[in-house]
Amino acid sequence: MRALVVDHTSPGHLSLTDVPDPQPAAHEALVRVEAISLNSGEVSRATDPATPNGARLGWDAAGVVVRAAADGSGPAEGDRVVTLGETGWAELRAVPATLLGTAPRDADPGALSTIPVAGLSALHVLRRTGQLLGRRVMVTGASGGVGRYAVQLAARAGAHVVAISRDPDRAGELRALGASEVRPEPAAVTEPVAAVLDNVGGPHLVAAFAALSAGGTLVSVGRSAGADAVLTPDALLGDAGRHDRSIRTFFLFGDPATDFAADLTWLAAEVTAGRLDPGISWRGPWTRHPEAVEALLTHRLHGKAVLVLD
Ligand SMILES: NC(=O)c1ccc[n+]([C@@H]2O[C@H](COP(=O)([O-])OP(=O)(O)OC[C@H]3O[C@@H](n4cnc5c(N)ncnc54)[C@H](OP(=O)(O)O)[C@@H]3O)[C@@H](O)[C@H]2O)c1
Repeated sequence: MRALVVDHTSPGHLSLTDVPDPQPAAHEALVRVEAISLNSGEVSRATDPATPNGARLGWDAAGVVVRAAADGSGPAEGDRVVTLGETGWAELRAVPATLLGTAPRDADPGALSTIPVAGLSALHVLRRTGQLLGRRVMVTGASGGVGRYAVQLAARAGAHVVAISRDPDRAGELRALGASEVRPEPAAVTEPVAAVLDNVGGPHLVAAFAALSAGGTLVSVGRSAGADAVLTPDALLGDAGRHDRSIRTFFLFGDPATDFAADLTWLAAEVTAGRLDPGISWRGPWTRHPEAVEALLTHRLHGKAVLVLD
């Protein structure tokens, strides 16, 4: 089969190469991949000189089961599925049932492929922030893959969503997704928030932490800014209604035993029904991967890049 593998001599640091077909274990289904989506974390790894040529990456994919798991777990042959993996930018992928969601037959594979990392991260982080109904919730990096899902899910959970985007042109889109306020940076938010989903880190994290009300939680998801977050001694004071604030870390793959199947299936149904916007801002054949990588690395995407397999 063909796969996109790390190749630092090629544009976008990836090349389409022949590799051996996967050999599924008894608990794994074999999936023929129809579409993949790129995430900033894995693209950063692909372009990092420390990642060796030939390395296989790729978390997000959607496709069709061509051979069900031998142990009877998971979806049946012919089912359309959305999958989370680790080495999956390839025509075939072997996946355990815990990393497979079943999608409606008429689902758009491109839209499904945006779900695993971005959709699951947004959903699992918002669960960590506690009850959202009637509360102010800030999402930084709101125009990105995780951010767009987070804005929509927090709004659906009844939150007053404060979306942060540096780009004024994104305000209309973010309001259409459910944001009640759109601000250029956390420091521009004047009313306290009960929770923060921070995709950006650096000074954004520091200012967002300062905006938390007593008892509030900031979940640090990403560090798109690539900058240090410097908290002065005063920033950590718990006086004047600022007590009991916390910063939590998050890693989607933190617990290898997590069963993502039900959440992937639910997100796939919501996206297919049009109740969640997958936020695709670039779509093309996987032979055009260098363009997608370039758009992601230069922060011109403001959404998900989807590569469609031929
Ligand atoms: N911990 C985990 O398990 C986990 C899971 C998923 C993602 N992540 C991480 O979370 C972050 C977001 O992921 P993503 O896929 O949503 O990325 P993305 O699609 O690239 O979006 C990031 C957003 O952050 C904003 N941004 C970028 N550079 C910035 C800067 N220098 N200062 C301020 N804002 C900036 C941009 O929005 P504007 O230009 O509109 O401001 C951009 O749309 C990444 O760092 C990713 O690696 C971590």
